[in-house]
Amino acid sequence: MANNNESIHGSWRNRWTFILAATGSAVGLGNIWKFPYITGEYGGGAFVLVYLMCIALVGIPVMMAEVAMGRRGRQSPINSMKALVSEAKAGPGWKLIGWMGALAGFLILSFYSVVAGWSLSYVLKMATGVFTEVDQTVAGDQFNGLLADPSMLMVWHTIFMILTVGVVIRGVNKGIESTITVLMPLLFVLLVILIGYGASKGDIMSAVDFMFAADFSKLSMEAVLVALGHSFFTLSLGMGAIMAYGSYMPRNASIASTVFTVAGLDTLVALLAGLAIFPIVFANGLEPSAGPGLMFVTLPFTFGQMPGGQFFGALFFILVAFAAWSSAISLIEPATAWAVERFKVSRAKACTLIGVIIWALGIGSVLSFNDWSEFHLLPGKTIFDTFDFMTANVMLPLGGLLIALFVGFGMKYHHAYNEMNMKNAGLFNLWYIVLRFVTPVAIAIVFINGLLPECSFNAELLNAETGECGNSVFMTPRFIGGVILAVTYIGIIVKSLQKPSRGLSS
Ligand code: TRP
Repeated sequence: MANNNESIHGSWRNRWTFILAATGSAVGLGNIWKFPYITGEYGGGAFVLVYLMCIALVGIPVMMAEVAMGRRGRQSPINSMKALVSEAKAGPGWKLIGWMGALAGFLILSFYSVVAGWSLSYVLKMATGVFTEVDQTVAGDQFNGLLADPSMLMVWHTIFMILTVGVVIRGVNKGIESTITVLMPLLFVLLVILIGYGASKGDIMSAVDFMFAADFSKLSMEAVLVALGHSFFTLSLGMGAIMAYGSYMPRNASIASTVFTVAGLDTLVALLAGLAIFPIVFANGLEPSAGPGLMFVTLPFTFGQMPGGQFFGALFFILVAFAAWSSAISLIEPATAWAVERFKVSRAKACTLIGVIIWALGIGSVLSFNDWSEFHLLPGKTIFDTFDFMTANVMLPLGGLLIALFVGFGMKYHHAYNEMNMKNAGLFNLWYIVLRFVTPVAIAIVFINGLLPECSFNAELLNAETGECGNSVFMTPRFIGGVILAVTYIGIIVKSLQKPSRGLSS
């Protein structure tokens, strides 16, 4: 394998540009839009705690694995997987990681771009004073009005896709690297300004209480699945984005310390976004469980009430749009790099074509909020909801599981060891053991439990009045069953992928 060569797409100038690019990928709508609203929906403190555990036990180990795979493969995720599989003489099934990842990237970006479009439209709305001193119903009507208008949604979705493709077309160094090195420092400055503004105006104590006082009775298995899925989504894991960025990483940079920096910054931004949004929600006596509209109704309304709100409100949505932009770049890069390698076409051609396909897929999400709102792909879920659910809660955790298993069992120990290049062998082994045994089991348990309908196992959990399922998660027969299933399942995967050619003449 061409271990010492550079990727044909380029290399980051140094370790810091990798950190900026990976942080740019990680910090996005997931942190500012999704994290606060799912925390609100799933009840606050306990959810936050589970999310933090997922980052530590699953997110960070998988991220290290993904970067290592990219740097060793030195190509697009699909082709890196091919190279790594043949180097390790492992079964061809592992290549699924690359293909499923590319598909997940298409699906995610198609709805991500629509939401990013909302924030672009809100920059304009805020700056032109649409929310200045209006009452709350007007704020709600603005959001519903936008969602009800497919042509407006299409305009902003199209603009956002053009911005994204515009960067990636120019390549790893001239496009991605130079954009990110301007965007990320700006993003941090904006965030600090806004937190200062929020802290001086809002009810920060209620927000802290809501986010950090853990009440486990509110924690359902679904919440645990969502927390796990979100930890993948927010760190951009499980689909090859980080693998692609890893393939442009200098050989001598330390993977472990870089990954800790990126994961730390991402978590910090999510918590800060919560601390910027919830004080405002509570200061106005509003509900934290408003769902996806949380950021687009509550927040603009409040900005409209506050001195300087027009200006700071516009700044806030610029921040959101920047964060989304630097993430979108990483969603389209893996497929672009693959198409360049596979068809030997220019980056411009490859990326434009992929951009158009994703843009077209996005039309389904645009229509989910209006003309096709009654059309459900999964029970009760519009196209938008289905893409979100299938990627965050199914494809990314599955991709992450396979990545952990591949580095843990598929790759040769000494290859993993050399690639990680850690000074401290004890720390390496700790990571390796977590990656082999803790991470996959954790993912599989949550996965199996979260996808099975809770009350079909234990009817006593069903609340006759509300029709909702009860909350006890751990140490039920169902949970223990899940653990046994999870371990068996992992065993089967590893066995079947390990030595495919035994007895076959291939
Ligand atoms: N992490 C980004 C966010 O939090 C979204 C994102 C970018 C992503 N690249 C990804 C999610 C790759 C999954 C996989 O908004």
